[in-house]
Amino acid sequence: MSAVLTVKDLGISFGSNHVLKSINFELNENEVLGVIGPNGAGKTVMLNILTGILKPTKGTISFQGKEISHEGVTERCRGGIGRTFQVPRPFEQMTVFENIMVGGVFGAGMSEAEAKQKALEVADVIKLDDKLDLFAGKLGLLDRKRLEIGRALATEPKILLLDEVGGGLTESEVGLIINLVKEIKSQGVSVIWIEHIIRTMLEGTDRVMLLADGVDVITGAPLDVMNSSEVKKVYMGGGDDE
Ligand SMILES: Nc1ncnc2c1ncn2[C@@H]1O[C@H](COP(=O)(O)OP(=O)(O)OP(=O)(O)O)[C@@H](O)[C@H]1O
Ligand SMILES: [Mg+2]
Repeated sequence: MSAVLTVKDLGISFGSNHVLKSINFELNENEVLGVIGPNGAGKTVMLNILTGILKPTKGTISFQGKEISHEGVTERCRGGIGRTFQVPRPFEQMTVFENIMVGGVFGAGMSEAEAKQKALEVADVIKLDDKLDLFAGKLGLLDRKRLEIGRALATEPKILLLDEVGGGLTESEVGLIINLVKEIKSQGVSVIWIEHIIRTMLEGTDRVMLLADGVDVITGAPLDVMNSSEVKKVYMGGGDDE
């Protein structure tokens, strides 16, 4: 398997708060890598570093064999790194269709015609094709999550970074999101999926990484990691989580 993303010795501190000390991992082609870890472990911070929003204190990021640590947010997005935000932030006064189009036009730099075409394709994948003209502010939580994913997909990512897209959803809705991620993967997109919900990790990922105390504590097959002594220690020893 070849790596589409390679992260080496990534670290970041905010003053004396050493949130990430040394993160090392690879994301393979056609892989969903789950990321778990307690609240405040630095999972979202890691995504923000990968997309260029935050500058790391140390470390390197290679994407498709090319070092991208010096690239800014726009360059990385156009290069193929798409992401969702932990709290979905659609433009509430715009329609579903317009929201998805924004991803194509501003995220990927498409022409309006290209972005329209792309938005139609994406709406189909995220199953909002029957709600194209609804204002995003009127959507329920599941559809907001879908739209959040759709806005990222409209940038035509090679890798998609998901930050707790399953949070707050019902059991059956979580199942729909798991299926959606599988479909996205089948289209050749590699995924990093941060989530607290155990089922998403067991059913929706190929490998899982535990992030705690600023390091990648253990990475491996989902069931092995979820049953590991490392996970038990982190969640039972320190844990207000799960
Ligand atoms: N821009 C910032 N400036 C200073 N500190 C920050 C900044 N962003 C995050 N932090 C700190 O980094 C730590 C990790 O936060 P982060 O949001 O990455 O956690 P998380 O693992 O995503 O947690 P959760 O599971 O609750 O989403 C926290 O202590 C947070 O206060
Ligand atoms: Mg977070």
